[in-house]
Amino acid sequence: MTLEQRLERATELARQAGERMVQAREEQGFAHHYKKGDELVTDIDVAIDTFLAEALEAEFPEDARLTEELSPERGVIGTKGGLWVIDPIDGTVNFAHGLRHVAVSIAWCERGKIQMGVVHAPFLGETFTAIRGKGAWLNGESISVSETDEMSRALVATGFPYNRDSRPPLLKRLSAMLLVCQDVRRNGSAALDLCDVACGRLDAYYESVSPWDFAAGLLIAREAGARTGHLYRCPDGIPDELYGENIVVASPALHAPLKRLLEEADASSGLPGL
Ligand code: IPD
Ligand code: CA
Ligand code: CA
Repeated sequence: MTLEQRLERATELARQAGERMVQAREEQGFAHHYKKGDELVTDIDVAIDTFLAEALEAEFPEDARLTEELSPERGVIGTKGGLWVIDPIDGTVNFAHGLRHVAVSIAWCERGKIQMGVVHAPFLGETFTAIRGKGAWLNGESISVSETDEMSRALVATGFPYNRDSRPPLLKRLSAMLLVCQDVRRNGSAALDLCDVACGRLDAYYESVSPWDFAAGLLIAREAGARTGHLYRCPDGIPDELYGENIVVASPALHAPLKRLLEEADASSGLPGL
């Protein structure tokens, strides 16, 4: 099967997942739970993960899966074969609060490299796709990153972990950003933040997230011309492309200055290598 065919199938599944989100919102009957203390999850997160897992198991039984709700064990990241990396709902808090910034994110990787990805935002009517080495698209139209080259003109997105105790060390970074760049957005979906960098609505994004949050969006951003990387050296044994700590993604001219600013902020809070 070609990557194009695989992407087409993943996109169909993403659209069906999106329809489930829209229907669930219309019916408003879903339950909310909390996992690991403060992490919100709804019945629909689990239902969509189950729907995608069953479809992929039937069609691609040889592939492994890393999905937020049903198969979050990271051991599969080292697999030599195919690996699906899926967030059934990215932006669960937005979803539960009736906000529209919500997406399903599906990536497919081989030997630790992201080969194709789709991020579908059903309430926004936007489907972002990319194939490694072949470009990135929004609803079928080619997209590219912004040409912004000054931090003072840069609109930068980030996010924060659910665990409130992990938030204070990030405040130095946030204040450094607010003092230098145009403004900061916290839109609540890492996958869409990356896609918004890809199509030039945002100029940069940084955060620490899980593989399912960023795998598809990272490829989409990179294929649209973004520079991607990490603030600090990645550990051995995990493919860099699937390592989510301290990700920095920006239009090319902003990547180095943004990285420097974040490193300085960490150093000033006495937390280098956060
Ligand atoms: C979250 C979103 C959010 C990011 C969090 C993620 P979820 O994913 O991507 O933007 O800041 O770190 O956990 O829980 O909505 O799938
Ligand atoms: Ca997520
Ligand atoms: Ca999720």
